[in-house]
Amino acid sequence: FIAPNPTIPPMSAAALAALLRERQPCVVLTGAGVSTESGIPDFRSPTGIWAEVDPFEVASIQAFRRDPERVWRFYRERIHLLRDAEPNSAHRALAELERRGVVAAVVTQNIDTLHSRAGSREVVEVHGSIRSARCLRCLWSEPADAVLAQLETAPAPLCPHCGEVLKPGVVLFGELLPAAEMERATQLARSARLVLVVGSSLEVWPVAGLPLEACAFAIVNRGPTALDDHALLKVDAGASETLSKVLDAL
Ligand code: APR
Repeated sequence: FIAPNPTIPPMSAAALAALLRERQPCVVLTGAGVSTESGIPDFRSPTGIWAEVDPFEVASIQAFRRDPERVWRFYRERIHLLRDAEPNSAHRALAELERRGVVAAVVTQNIDTLHSRAGSREVVEVHGSIRSARCLRCLWSEPADAVLAQLETAPAPLCPHCGEVLKPGVVLFGELLPAAEMERATQLARSARLVLVVGSSLEVWPVAGLPLEACAFAIVNRGPTALDDHALLKVDAGASETLSKVLDAL
């Protein structure tokens, strides 16, 4: 038990910095909220993507089998948006926390590759990424550039190896998560004395269960999450501003 320091406001970045110092190793779990300041909308806040479009129409394995061209109309736009986005100061702060040895790894639900582009080295992408598309028949992996080139003239990219329609390299609703990444994420959470959740509503399982694998977790999130009541600390504020203050306070 850590006796709270009476001079530090309880739900503050300074309190979070104290927790990070005390509880090592720390593993970070991020969601779409860490990328909104890069111009990428999240999913479930009032201005999120799922307020505009039904995820089961564009991001489920059933939709892909039923109407792959509809799924590719959605993901073609996503790939262009995510590739043109730049890491923001929240991504950079997490990379700096790793460099200082405060954060051991980042487990991310995001498919935008911005943690790696910001310099984080230990990144576990549990929902896949936009880097490539996969063939469900022969398991071929096609890089995003080649996929986008095909999408200039075709409604859905085909596997150059066997001709099957390729699937976006992200986990669709109804699909299993990549086993190796989920195993590593679970092992990281179990070995952590603190999981720090940044920018996730914690609504989507099994990833939402990762904080519960650790002996304690804290949350930085604008608005409520499904696990607020079980968090050691909740900072209800923006990711960039909070993580920058944490860096200054360490
Ligand atoms: N700083 C802090 N929190 C933020 C910020 C910000 N700048 N911007 C948004 N948020 C919060 C939102 O209020 C919301 O609570 O981040 C949270 C994002 O939650 P979701 O939109 O549900 O995103 P996420 O938790 O990553 O969704 C998980 O669902 O649709 C699937 O595969 C998709 O990986 C995604 C998964």
